[in-house]
Amino acid sequence: MKPRVIRHVEALDMELYERTIQLFDMGKGKRAHTISIPSIHLTTPKSSGDHSFSVAPSVDAQTWTPPTNNRWAPPRKTKRYDDLEHKLEAAPLYVLVSTYMNYLVLILFGHLRDILGKFFKPQAYSHLRMNNGYAPLVSDFDSFYTRRLYVRIRGDFNRTFRLTGKVTENLNFASYNYLGFAQSQGQCADAVEQVTRASGLPSPSPRAQAGTTQAHLDLERLVSRFVGKEDAMVVSMGFATNSSTIPALVSKGCLIISDEMNHASIVFGARLSGAAVRVFKHNNMDDLRELLREVISQGQPRTHRPWKKILVIVEGLYSMEGTVVNLPEIVKMKKEFKFYLYVDEAHSIGALGENGGGVCDFYGVDPAHVDIMMGTFTKSFGAAGGYIAGDKAVIDHLRVNNHAYIYAEPMSVLVTQQVYTSMKIICGEDGSDDGRRRIQRLAENSLYFACRLREMGFIVYGDHGSPVVPLLLFNPAKIPAFSRELLKRGIAVCVVGYPATPIVTSRARFCLSASHTKEDLDNALEAISEVGDLLLLKVSEKK
Ligand SMILES: Cc1ncc(COP(=O)(O)O)c(C=O)c1O
Repeated sequence: MKPRVIRHVEALDMELYERTIQLFDMGKGKRAHTISIPSIHLTTPKSSGDHSFSVAPSVDAQTWTPPTNNRWAPPRKTKRYDDLEHKLEAAPLYVLVSTYMNYLVLILFGHLRDILGKFFKPQAYSHLRMNNGYAPLVSDFDSFYTRRLYVRIRGDFNRTFRLTGKVTENLNFASYNYLGFAQSQGQCADAVEQVTRASGLPSPSPRAQAGTTQAHLDLERLVSRFVGKEDAMVVSMGFATNSSTIPALVSKGCLIISDEMNHASIVFGARLSGAAVRVFKHNNMDDLRELLREVISQGQPRTHRPWKKILVIVEGLYSMEGTVVNLPEIVKMKKEFKFYLYVDEAHSIGALGENGGGVCDFYGVDPAHVDIMMGTFTKSFGAAGGYIAGDKAVIDHLRVNNHAYIYAEPMSVLVTQQVYTSMKIICGEDGSDDGRRRIQRLAENSLYFACRLREMGFIVYGDHGSPVVPLLLFNPAKIPAFSRELLKRGIAVCVVGYPATPIVTSRARFCLSASHTKEDLDNALEAISEVGDLLLLKVSEKK
């Protein structure tokens, strides 16, 4: 559990980038107009252009055996979302006004510089003007924001690695190493070393051809047992798990209903699918219900025919807000409206629930109510890649229709081993209580850290038990300042601003880990408090 320290912190936050892309999101769907009841079959390939026809059935389909020992069992007491403590404190008016004023000044100066630049340096600004009848290629608000605001605000945060030759040790609150398995020593590292020595780093061909190894099959069985579904498949990249699975499930004539805060990989997959997309307000069950009523009663646009199927996509834990999805309520609606439910557990698997089983485990909801369970191995498992778990028929369908499975390189054997060993530890199948202790430690750390920050007077978002703790910074100048001041004190933290967040609610996201000791947390809290005083961040009125 030791390496809680990182050697260098100037890392680009990929998630921030992905969320940034997501800004230009779906959600612009037209209102539909007819009565419809969703039908329930999955799509099959439709044209000869769809190369998935040519793929031979995967070996897994033949070797699959029903899981005998599903680990998940409904806990005796189930939780409701309303029983949890939720925090979304509004900022005091003066903070909002000063934040808007800051952006206003930046925008005014930005436009002024652009106008003067176009006038006095037409050559340098030619890409922003009409050019021989060509429209400017990059002159929209995005471009303006990046050139005139973002590069000024970002200071020293959000850079790619820059090797300076110096080595600094920092306490890491910027990675999703929730359970502390991203280690260079211990059971996982030993197992990975062993398997590397035995099999090297081969990546022979896609899974559907000659790329499937026993390690992949073992991991898939373990995943299906762990999440409590009939079958599972693993993919070598988390992002691609979403973006290639969604188009294999829905297409034209289908409807995707997506939470507005869903990850860019979901947004991308939804766009690729060709299905209609509608968005509901983040974790807002009234809005979801209203939208469901509308889309089912109206049907497809123009024709008013019933939707072929409706797929609601949510995340288990939203890493920008620290919110946990209101799963019990969605499951209730699912029974009422008959839609399919797809839950992305990238951040919740391993990190939520008494057994680390994710959001179903957290609420005591039977995983049978979730049709498609997706998760990634980049967070709690300290590895890479993702999984899709569901009924065997669905996974069989995906094995011949999911392009990341058919065409992409398979997960390398050592990454597979890292996931396998860490998942075994979480399940307690290694014969120790290491996994359970990590899960408990993460839960305690998360509650303690968020609670202490609130006591200090910071505005902190996030639901009860979230291992991501967003601390609000508001003012654009405070984004780099907060990161820089903490780095001086040996704390590495990830800061986030517009467009990944709304313009006034830029924030620092503290990612807790089971590897953090109480002493680490207390040291960090002391440093954060000092920086909070320095930057006037303790603006909560609830203290
Ligand atoms: C909710 C969600 N889904 C999918 C992904 C993509 O996973 P990966 O980074 O492993 O490609 C992420 C990444 O952070 C995520 O937060």
